[in-house]
Formats: sequence, C-alpha cells, structure tokens
Amino acid sequence: MDRRQFAPATERNREPIFDALKGWLPSLGTVLEIASGSGEHAVFFAPKVKPLKWQPSNFDREQIDSVTDWRAYKPSDNLLPPVKLDVTGKKWPVESETYENLPITAIFNANMIHISPWQTCEGLMAGAGRILPTGGRLFLYGPFKFNGRHTAASNEKFESWLKSLDPGYGVRDVEAVLKEASKNDLRHLLARPMPANNFLHLFEKN
Ligand SMILES: C[S@@+](CC[C@H](N)C(=O)[O-])C[C@H]1O[C@@H](n2cnc3c(N)ncnc32)[C@H](O)[C@@H]1O
Repeated sequence: MDRRQFAPATERNREPIFDALKGWLPSLGTVLEIASGSGEHAVFFAPKVKPLKWQPSNFDREQIDSVTDWRAYKPSDNLLPPVKLDVTGKKWPVESETYENLPITAIFNANMIHISPWQTCEGLMAGAGRILPTGGRLFLYGPFKFNGRHTAASNEKFESWLKSLDPGYGVRDVEAVLKEASKNDLRHLLARPMPANNFLHLFEKN
C-alpha cells in the first residue's frame, strides 16, 4: 500500500524555498524539519543539502507514514527516518541521549504555526532555543501579519477559513513571533518575501 500524501502547495513552494534556504544553511550537522507534513519538502531538499543530514518529523501518525513512503520512493542517503515529535513537548525526542544524529545545526518549519494553536509557536521557539548551538539557524516559512495587518487580501480570506476550523488558529503577527524568538535567545536576522504572500524568516541562536 502506498501511503504517500500529496500537497499541491508544497510542490509549488519547494523550489523558491530551496533557493532562499541554500545560501543560509550551515555546512555541517543535521537539519531538523518540524511538521514535515506529507514529506515532499524532505525528499526534495535532502539530496540538495549534502553533506548535511535531513531529519523529518511529525506529530500526526498518518503523515509519518506518508514521509516514510516518500522516503522509500525517493531515497537519499542523508535523509533520516521520520521521528514522532510534538513541538509543544517539553523535551523533543532528538534531545534523548540515544539520538544519534547530533549536532542539529538548523531547524526548518513550514506552514505550521498558523494552522495549529499558538502553543506550537511557543513550543517551536522554546525547542529551537534549547537545542540549537550558538550560530544555529531556525527557518520559519508561512504567511504573517505585520503591525496587525495582512499583507494581502487572500491572506485575510485564508485567516477567516482558519478561524472557522478553530478560533485559536490564525495568521500570526510577526511581532508576537519575534518576541517569542527573542525570549528564547533567537535573534531575527531577516525576513524574505516569498511567492503567494508568504515569508521566510531566518533566526540565529545567540
Ligand atoms: C499545513 S501542514 C504543513 C506541512 C508541511 N510543513 C508543509 O509545508 O507542507 C501543518 C503541519 O503541522 C503539524 N502540526 C500541528 N501541530 C503540531 C505539533 N504540536 N507538533 C508538531 N507538528 C504539528 C501537522 O501535523 C501538519 O503536518
């Protein structure tokens, strides 16, 4: 049985994301992907980032199965098996003494914090603050509001839909995200505008 899931937006955004990422990734260590979703980002990025290793993760069991099957379909020797990771956990599985792929020198997360409770942003920043070494990088991709305002009418419409799913979901204010980062010793280096009214934020651990 093929358990691969297909996310059309992921297929559309993976090239522009990679173009932005490639110059900013560290040269050694492991990139931990939080909320790997279908796994289509992982199989696309991993072969391009060698000698870095790529560690996919997810919270949802069916999506872990999707990543597993994508990995079997498009193997890369630096693409690790997915781990089950709830970003709101106080200790992530990659912090266990038995985890073999340290150091984690970068974290990549796309399209999670708006489509989940705000606690996922808090958990992401707390975890990145705990596990990244000085100079380690966090990449955060998705739609954002600036000064409480949407950057496009389509994002405003998208947010109404998100709130119909759960009132705790929503396009996040970049100021609140940056505050959470700074609480965890993560310095905001830049925000790069991306297609379809998204941004890629780059943070570095002090
Ligand atoms: C819209 S999908 C994005 C998937 C993928 N990153 C992408 O861009 O295609 C949102 C993801 O957030 C994950 N997620 C939600 N809450 C989470 C949590 N507490 N810990 C880890 N992942 C979570 C979901 O399982 C889902 O994979």
